[in-house]
Parts: sequence; C-alpha cells; structure tokens
Amino acid sequence: MAPTLASSRVAIVSGKGGVGKTTVAAALATAAARAGKRVLVIEVEQRDGLAPLFGAQHIGYEERRLAPGVHGLSVVPDEALVEYLYLFYGIGRFVRPLAKSKAIEFATHTAPGLRDILLIGKVKEAERRRTGGGYTYDLLVLDAPPTGRLPRFLSAPRSVAELVKSGPIRQQAQGVLDMVFDPKRSQVVLVTTPEEMPVRETIEAAQTLTQMGVALGPVVLNGVYPRSFTPAAERALARDATGAIANDARTIGVPLEEEAVSVLGSVASTQARRARNQRSAIRELGAELVQPQVTLPYLFTERFGPREIGPLAAALLAQEAV
Ligand SMILES: Nc1ncnc2c1ncn2[C@@H]1O[C@H](COP(=O)(O)OP(=O)(O)OP(=O)(O)O)[C@@H](O)[C@H]1O
Ligand SMILES: [Mg+2]
Repeated sequence: MAPTLASSRVAIVSGKGGVGKTTVAAALATAAARAGKRVLVIEVEQRDGLAPLFGAQHIGYEERRLAPGVHGLSVVPDEALVEYLYLFYGIGRFVRPLAKSKAIEFATHTAPGLRDILLIGKVKEAERRRTGGGYTYDLLVLDAPPTGRLPRFLSAPRSVAELVKSGPIRQQAQGVLDMVFDPKRSQVVLVTTPEEMPVRETIEAAQTLTQMGVALGPVVLNGVYPRSFTPAAERALARDATGAIANDARTIGVPLEEEAVSVLGSVASTQARRARNQRSAIRELGAELVQPQVTLPYLFTERFGPREIGPLAAALLAQEAV
C-alpha cells in the first residue's frame, strides 16, 4: 500500500512559517475522521490557531471534542510540567505558585530539552492510551513547530537521555525517543507552498530530518493555483497580456475600453506568472525529493473555518492521502 499522511500513528506536521501547517493539520484530522479514524489533533504553541478551523473558540489542556471523530488538545509546557511533577514525584497539582514557577524556570532555562520532552511526552501519553481493547486514538496530528525549530524539538529527548542515565526523566526521554524514531509510530509531514523559498527550506529540512533518522511522510503542497489558462494562453499572457486580451476582445466582438484592457491585463499576467512560478517550484521539489506529493488547492477566501477545511479534507481523501 502506498504511504499516506496517516501511515504512522503520529503525524508531525511542520513546514516554513506561514505555509499552512495549522490548516493542513486541521484538514488531515478531518479527513482521517471521515475515513473512520479516531483522531486527536494537538497544538503545542498556544497559538489558538486550530480552534477556529473547527468553529471553536479555544482548545485547552483538557481534551475536547471538536468535530465528529476529532478531539483537540493544546499542550502547554507549564501544565505539562505540573502534571509531570504530580505523576512522578507526587507534588500536588496545586503546588504553591512559587514552587511551581521555580520548577517551570528550571525546566525552561536550566534544562531546555526537558520542556520539549514534556510537550512530546504528553503526545506520547495520548498515543499509548488505551480504552477498552484498543488504542484510544488511531491517529494523532501534531501542529508542530516550524522546520527551523523542529530538529531541536525532536532531538530534545536524545540529548536529555544522554545526560540523565536513570530515573523517571530518563524513562520519559526514552519513551519519547522510542515513539519519535519509530516510523510505524511517527512521521513528519512537511507542508510547503509551491514557491521558491519554502520549497528550498523543505528540501533542506527533508535532508536534515532524514539524517536524524526521522521518517518522512508525503509532502503536502498547499495553496496550488487552479489551472486557469491553456498552456498557449498562459505563454501569451505572460509575454504581453494587454495585447492578448485586446486581441481576444476584438475577435469575440466585446468592446473594451483601454483602461479595462490594461487592468485585466495586469491581473491576468500576474496570475499567469504565478502559475508558472508555482509549477517550476513543484518541478524542483519533485526533482529533489523522493517522497510522494499531495496537493491542496489555493482557496480564494478571506476567512478560514470549518467550511474551508471541509473541501481541503475532501481533496486529501480524493487523492487517497489518508
Ligand atoms: N489552501 C489555502 N488557500 C488559501 N489560503 C490558505 C490556504 N492554506 C492556508 N491558508 C492561509 O494562509 C495563512 C497561513 O496558514 P496557517 O496559519 O495554516 O499557516 P502556518 O504554517 O500554521 O502558520 P504559522 O507558521 O504562523 O503557524 C492563513 O491565513 C490561512 O488561512
Ligand atoms: Mg500555525
């Protein structure tokens, strides 16, 4: 069977800033739920980006239902730390604020890797959790940090495991390592827009992650323009859009003022040039990466919510990407 975005139990969705990580995480979660999976979508940066995509206000530290088959969770390091101290050292959940802030300071400054382990540790706990005879969730979708910060985020457990040789922290680090570096359990899904810079960053990230030993799933090309023109029309428009439009208008007998021709010309040539640039970026990605590609269309809309995520999820299902 061809690998899909849901081939591993945890999909770590990453990519350059602003390429659509959160949008793709929501679309993937929705598509997998429609395919019958029980899904947990997880936010790690407290950005509240996921909630509106499911028509919700907020996702908190308690798992909550966002849509049929989809639960959501926002992992907050402070909360994860308190829970951790509570679980392993019996320190009460309602520790005095001073003790709590000291502990958090320790975790974030003295041992920065620990903070990331606590975040991924929470993901691991949800991944291993069982209800009845089987796993509680079939798929966990992580709206992960951008590619620039991802290697550090994922290698945190390794550095902590090297430092700490025994005890609960070591166990936690090892447990996270076992999950992140097992391709059956975790894969990184890189998202990119079909543009030069993000594509380059994606190619570099793919190399770095592969060297680290992390499995890579299909790459998602997000925001691909529809093919509006025939190849010949596109060439003509990219060369001289006003001339081409004035010519066409004459041919079909539509009277157009000079100004209208000029405005239409600039819109059409921008569109044609962008489409050509996108295709060249897509070619470059295909030439450099062996991973299969999944395509999501550019949606011409101001606001993103469940009504926009629905068609993107449908596009993933139509490509058998889940
Ligand atoms: N397929 C698409 N068509 C049109 N707009 C899109 C598409 N995907 C995402 N967007 C828009 O692009 C912007 C960035 O998307 P999103 O927040 O998902 O990116 P991100 O990678 O999570 O960003 P950040 O790095 O800030 O977390 C948003 O305004 C979103 O609505
Ligand atoms: Mg985001």
